[in-house]
Amino acid sequence: MALVTFTSPMHKDKTVYAVAGSHTQTVLALAKDNHIPIDFGCQNGECGTCLVKVKAIEKNRIHGGPLTDGEINVLRELGKITRAQVEKMLVDDLPPTEWRLACQMVVRDEDILVEYPSK
Ligand code: FES
Repeated sequence: MALVTFTSPMHKDKTVYAVAGSHTQTVLALAKDNHIPIDFGCQNGECGTCLVKVKAIEKNRIHGGPLTDGEINVLRELGKITRAQVEKMLVDDLPPTEWRLACQMVVRDEDILVEYPSK
């Protein structure tokens, strides 16, 4: 069971449980289930509306699964990730940036802090 804390300058912080081991629940789905008002559009990793910043609560832990191809494209268009970071991710199999798309990032069994909106 992972604890996911959503934080925003415009709303009260809220911490919710994510189902352990589902490996399918996205940050956006978790937010919607818990009435957390993250903006979204396409829900398909194409528009960038759901941009969030994600930090691991425990030091030295990674957060979430690797970026999807759509996520990489949008983050590059938004200037949030470089080609070098993408190449490093492919070698290390680790997310190289705190910037994520909530509709693409799958929650894993780790406690995370999700900042929104993060434009
Ligand atoms: S809602 Fe469009 S990229 Fe996430």
